[in-house]
Amino acid sequence: MDSVISWKRLCLFLIALLCFQSTLNFLGKSDYEVLFAAECTANFPDLYYEIDRAVKYWHDRKHTITAEDVDISWRNDAAVRILIHENELRILETKGTFDNQGYRMRTLSVLSMLQEALLSASAGGERLPTIEAAIVVDDMSLLSGGPDDTRSIWTFTSNIHDESHRRHWLIPDFSMYSARGTGSWRDMRRRAMEFDAPFSEKLPRVVWRGVRWTNEGVRGSLLDETEGEDWADVKVVDWETRENMMAQDEMCRYAFTVHTEGRSYSGRLPFLLNCNSLPLIHDLDWTTHFYHLLISSGKNQNYVPVKRSFIDLPKTLHRYLAHPDEAQRIINNSVATFREKYTSPAATSCYFRRLIGGWGKVSFEPGVLRNGSEVRRRGVSFEEFVHVEGDYRGG
Ligand SMILES: *[C@@H]1O[C@H](CO)[C@@H](O)[C@H](O)[C@H]1NC(C)=O
Ligand SMILES: *[C@@H]1O[C@H](CO)[C@@H](O)[C@H](O)[C@H]1NC(C)=O
Repeated sequence: MDSVISWKRLCLFLIALLCFQSTLNFLGKSDYEVLFAAECTANFPDLYYEIDRAVKYWHDRKHTITAEDVDISWRNDAAVRILIHENELRILETKGTFDNQGYRMRTLSVLSMLQEALLSASAGGERLPTIEAAIVVDDMSLLSGGPDDTRSIWTFTSNIHDESHRRHWLIPDFSMYSARGTGSWRDMRRRAMEFDAPFSEKLPRVVWRGVRWTNEGVRGSLLDETEGEDWADVKVVDWETRENMMAQDEMCRYAFTVHTEGRSYSGRLPFLLNCNSLPLIHDLDWTTHFYHLLISSGKNQNYVPVKRSFIDLPKTLHRYLAHPDEAQRIINNSVATFREKYTSPAATSCYFRRLIGGWGKVSFEPGVLRNGSEVRRRGVSFEEFVHVEGDYRGG
């Protein structure tokens, strides 16, 4: 009799599981965050390249990242130290992330992404390791040092030519949660889709907005190559007067978008990849957590490479305007890879979960309790931190 009941229970459980799975399919996995760890692997199999690289790097160095390695005293600003324990996020220290509005926004976005990832891990039944880590939210980490230096941080970008940046752990750009000007990432993605159209029905021009001075070499070349051309809508913006400003999603009306590096990586690429336009990307010096997914040729090509000098820009545009099917094939690959998959909020949550796990494998296990207390934990909870007014130096 007992065994009959348990068989019935098992059947009910299996039916419930099937219903849950089909609900997931119905909602579309890319916007559904509660994923089991195995689903993070199944849905986003190619996402974790940078994490695997970093784990391997520290393994090969035979070095366990220490408390000294995550000290942030070498940074003047834009730095945060965090603690994760039992899937709860705590802030141990912030440095120069309050008075600077830009760094404050970036810090809150990154910590919120982490919080989302931790909640999704809990909902998916995954217990992440106890870790302590340092995060730098500036465009440039300024991490330096010779081959013996073991300091390590989480940050947005690495210069592919800088040996010391191999000590970085790359995290998704803050704007993939929210940013001033572009708003929430989820809203942004929906707005971008309002401009969806076949390549041949979009404005047959290349669009770009930005400032020149952050990267005269790249941006200056783009501006010079396109000046006065009817196939280009490329303009310098004035943040003060708002002259020539264009919302990111409105760029999706154009057949071609173009990515340009700035001070370093420039966070514009994830936006461009959420249009169904043809993305043009110059040879890059900087990488981010997902750039290994960019494919420049072959049947899975998902963007069009151009030179840093943009000398080949007119030729490239004319070629794809004459062969819209070829452009559409690349666009379809781009949308399937980036918009529908790897730049989705679910992918970002899965990425952070894997990052915490990977970091835990090669770093020290921090103490959780305050000295002299058997209850009170170090730092301040994320929930309380959002109300903290000023930099936090809780220790
Ligand atoms: C691109 O995707 C659209 C919409 O899914 C489809 O109708 C079209 O046939 C695809 N085009 C190419 C060239 O793959
Ligand atoms: C706790 O005490 C240890 C040993 O005295 C000391 O090294 C450490 O810095 C203290 N930690 C905090 C957060 O005060």
